[in-house]
Amino acid sequence: MKERIQQIIAEVEAFKAAHATEVEDFRIRYLGKKGVLNDLFADFKLVAPEHRKETGRLLNELKNYIQNKFDQGRTAFDTQGVAFKPTPDLTMPVDFQELGARHPVSLVMNRVIDVFGRIGFPVAEGPEIEDDWHNFSALNFPPEHPARDMQDTFFLEKNPDIALRTHTSSVQIRYMEKHKPPLRAIFPGRVYRNEAISARAHCLFHQVEGLYVDKNVSFADLKQTLLYFAREMFDADTKIRLRPSFFPFTEPSAEMDISCNICSGKGCNICKYTGWVEILGCGMVDPSVLENCGINSMEYTGYAFGIGMERMALLLYQINDLRLFFENDLRFLKQFTPAI
Ligand code: DAH
Repeated sequence: MKERIQQIIAEVEAFKAAHATEVEDFRIRYLGKKGVLNDLFADFKLVAPEHRKETGRLLNELKNYIQNKFDQGRTAFDTQGVAFKPTPDLTMPVDFQELGARHPVSLVMNRVIDVFGRIGFPVAEGPEIEDDWHNFSALNFPPEHPARDMQDTFFLEKNPDIALRTHTSSVQIRYMEKHKPPLRAIFPGRVYRNEAISARAHCLFHQVEGLYVDKNVSFADLKQTLLYFAREMFDADTKIRLRPSFFPFTEPSAEMDISCNICSGKGCNICKYTGWVEILGCGMVDPSVLENCGINSMEYTGYAFGIGMERMALLLYQINDLRLFFENDLRFLKQFTPAI
């Protein structure tokens, strides 16, 4: 008798109704006139007198258990026999999902993309793992150039050389191999150099490269484009200054300074009391670079530039240490996305 009761408890425990008719079946099976319970009570008479007390208690417990289960089942369905959905408790505290924020470097990069987008420069991308041709040779780097040194570049493989790109200029080559002039585009992305981390340097940083090739593109076009860019990014009265420089892939080459946006050119510790801060490298695309990409340099000329994003972000947000960009401290990172 005891085993039977236990077996029935297990059965009842496992019972789950998907529809009201199953609850009715349950009632008939266990609580009906010819049901399991009545059978058991009938058999109770046969239980030996010394076991009656305990068996009686078990039987009554079983009866209550079955009755409860049945009551639960009955209230779980509507008049059509369909299960009620559990009603959510609207007074419970919500499971609050914190909103993320954009990284300041991404915010600046998106602005740069937007500013150039308005004058017709689409975005293109290239791989971060580059071969020697795209990162160096096609850009006119001589074989003994210091950038090709293990100390400056992260090489992944030697002979043939594969490295993490050291600049986005590699995408100029990829773009000119695919597109023929007239062409213009910007290439944003991550670049890598073997540098110890400090307030001004890191082994990983971001650039936005620009390229424009057409007939009769001149240095004046470059200058005007960069002035527009500087004024869109900084104040409308920002001044630019182009200093002669050298890059293997441009001739002539220049570095561009903007009038310091912190002190308006009066002199401060950001501009080292010069009134100017450097923000990019640029120049006219070297004819041999055009030729390396199958573009006739007698017919076409072009300009190019490469802008450091971290530097722009430091200036725009007046941050004095580059390391803050890479520490993933939410208290820092949350300060740049405007409140929604
Ligand atoms: N690739 C250069 C660097 O990483 C920046 C640069 C200079 C890009 C001149 C250009 C350019 O496109 O014309 O330092």
